[in-house]
Amino acid sequence: MPLHSDAIARRFGDGGPTAEDTEGNDFMRGVLSRKTVRRYSDRVPSEELLHLLTACALSASAKSDFQQASILRVRDPQKRAAIGELFPSMPWIGNAPVFFVFLGDAGRLQRIGEMRGKPVRNGTLEGFFNASIDAALAMQTMILCAESAGLGVCPISVIRNEVDKVAAVLALPELVFPVAGLCIGYPQSEGYVSLRLPRAVTTHSDRYDDGALEPAIDDYDRRRHALHAIPRDQQRSNAEFGEALFYGWSEDKARQAAKAEGAAFSPYLRSHGFSFD
Ligand SMILES: Cc1cc2nc3c(=O)[nH]c(=O)nc-3n(C[C@H](O)[C@H](O)[C@H](O)COP(=O)(O)O)c2cc1C
Repeated sequence: MPLHSDAIARRFGDGGPTAEDTEGNDFMRGVLSRKTVRRYSDRVPSEELLHLLTACALSASAKSDFQQASILRVRDPQKRAAIGELFPSMPWIGNAPVFFVFLGDAGRLQRIGEMRGKPVRNGTLEGFFNASIDAALAMQTMILCAESAGLGVCPISVIRNEVDKVAAVLALPELVFPVAGLCIGYPQSEGYVSLRLPRAVTTHSDRYDDGALEPAIDDYDRRRHALHAIPRDQQRSNAEFGEALFYGWSEDKARQAAKAEGAAFSPYLRSHGFSFD
């Protein structure tokens, strides 16, 4: 079996297409086998490699060529510590050898409008959405390039839960907001490839059809549990929802999503130039 068929089967385990008659390449195999890494060795990536990764990230597609992503590297140990201390349950934020913040930068286009004397209004929903997507694409491009160079990474959207404090540390101006941080370093341990939802659920042909969602999710829960069961002591919100006899991915995600996150984000955006008209 070609290597990528193995990798597809391991990623999905859904009995779906394995692309076995296509050659693929090493990059695709790397993507199929990629995994988030939260523990890093002491080895620090070279500055040259970080410049290369930044250049790759900023080579990502950009909506309308507006180029609304900005990348901020947090190098000052005091600033790293100040951000890390906000999230004690995620020590990798403060400890990772390298920490970038990917910014949706709707402010730059606004300023360019002012420079050229044009009536730009970029605090709209469209402006926010375009800048968010540009930043996300730049981040994912850095992720895949970093992983292809043997690095491990972890995106960090939890920084938005304390957006006021993070933005103050980073001196973010109006219309500029964090999409996510990105921890980078050389992996300390192997980790494992996380099983994705069956493609029967996440892909559609010609028309959207989620008619078989429930049995497919039940099946996915069972397969994922057999590979990597969530330990009993990691069940979320047991006081509210009770201890589950079978605690699968969907139970975990439903409990997680029931606790709304990011309450500070909307007010932050609205008080920093976004009207979302
Ligand atoms: C936008 C985004 C934000 C994320 N934020 C966090 C975070 O704040 N903390 C964290 O530990 N992991 C974070 N992650 C990592 C996800 O938990 C991880 O990608 C997911 O569990 C799937 O695992 P995999 O990437 O190994 O397949 C984030 C991932 C993305 C794409």
